[in-house]
Amino acid sequence: MIESILDALTEPALLLDPVGRVAIANESARDRLGVWVIGQSYVSVLRQPALLAPVEDAFALGQGGSARFTHSSGAVETLFDVRVSPVRGAGGKRQVLLVFRDVSEVQASESMRRDFVANVSHELKTPLTAVSGFIETLEGPARNDAPARDRFLSMMGQEVRRMDRLVSDLLSLSRLEGQSRRRPTTQVDLARVLRDVAATLTLGAETEGVTINVDAEAEATVPGDRDQLTQVFANLLENAIKYGAQPGTVTLHLSPVERDPVIKGPAWRVGVSDEGAGIAPEHIPRLTERFYRVDTGRSREQGGTGLGLAIVKHIVNRHRGRLKIDSEVGRGTEVVVTLPAA
Ligand SMILES: Nc1ncnc2c1ncn2[C@@H]1O[C@H](COP(=O)(O)OP(=O)(O)OP(=O)(O)O)[C@@H](O)[C@H]1O
Ligand SMILES: [Mg+2]
Repeated sequence: MIESILDALTEPALLLDPVGRVAIANESARDRLGVWVIGQSYVSVLRQPALLAPVEDAFALGQGGSARFTHSSGAVETLFDVRVSPVRGAGGKRQVLLVFRDVSEVQASESMRRDFVANVSHELKTPLTAVSGFIETLEGPARNDAPARDRFLSMMGQEVRRMDRLVSDLLSLSRLEGQSRRRPTTQVDLARVLRDVAATLTLGAETEGVTINVDAEAEATVPGDRDQLTQVFANLLENAIKYGAQPGTVTLHLSPVERDPVIKGPAWRVGVSDEGAGIAPEHIPRLTERFYRVDTGRSREQGGTGLGLAIVKHIVNRHRGRLKIDSEVGRGTEVVVTLPAA
């Protein structure tokens, strides 16, 4: 009876008999902690002092408690929050029930949130410090120096625009997170988006000596959000221009895919390639993390926030598409976006 009740729990649970041996390990406990625990003393099963004390209290004083317990099996470490409760068994003898709640994910998301806040604060603090430095100089030494004043004002403008971009990027990320389950439904012509993005960036590219090639003759309709897709290709093209070879060529290549194995249907593939220095393989999986930059100094100098690819990834996911970064150090990079066709 008790056994089947405990088996119904999704959390691992152990019932200790009056002398402290594991009388029952439910199915989840046998699965996650191992079958070997049955019949063992709790001291040899738990082994972590933080958890032994509340179990002793439960036996000796009939007091409930809780503690953290780390379980490792192979390479995987799981953090449990363990609830310790005294229960009356047959004959009125005291038994102790342990219920393990897996809190690894909660813990990981807490630490991600802390990192995120620390990153945002740091990114905002840098331009703020610069601006307050300029203000001090303008109030003091440069008060009557007109050319210096102009120079400082223009640098202040630059820092303020950077903060403004950072805040807009953060807002767009949080909006995207809210919409991730709602797939866009309007029909968008990808070829048109690519041509428009290229047209907008051509002038800026030319000043850097970069030529943009658009290889997108066909009309390519996908269900999508036009502004968001524009944001995706603008960022990828901007990256190719910024981090690619200068002078050099950047190519946008649109082609149909008869059946994409992951999307499980017809799709459109857009490759954005450059002839730049490329990206070392160890960085590639991390590029879509917020604020991750290979060369922070270089990216900042160019006004980058390191949020571009994180936004790209979110938008592509919302469109049920795929993002892939192929790069070879010394040869260049191709970022491929594959989107389900209409
Ligand atoms: N085509 C590329 N070639 C080489 N490195 C690249 C390329 N695209 C991106 N990267 C690297 O990936 C990092 C992250 O790119 P991401 O677009 O997220 O940020 P950013 O361009 O630095 O800033 P933002 O996009 O906010 O202006 C860049 O800082 C750069 O180091
Ligand atoms: Mg970018």
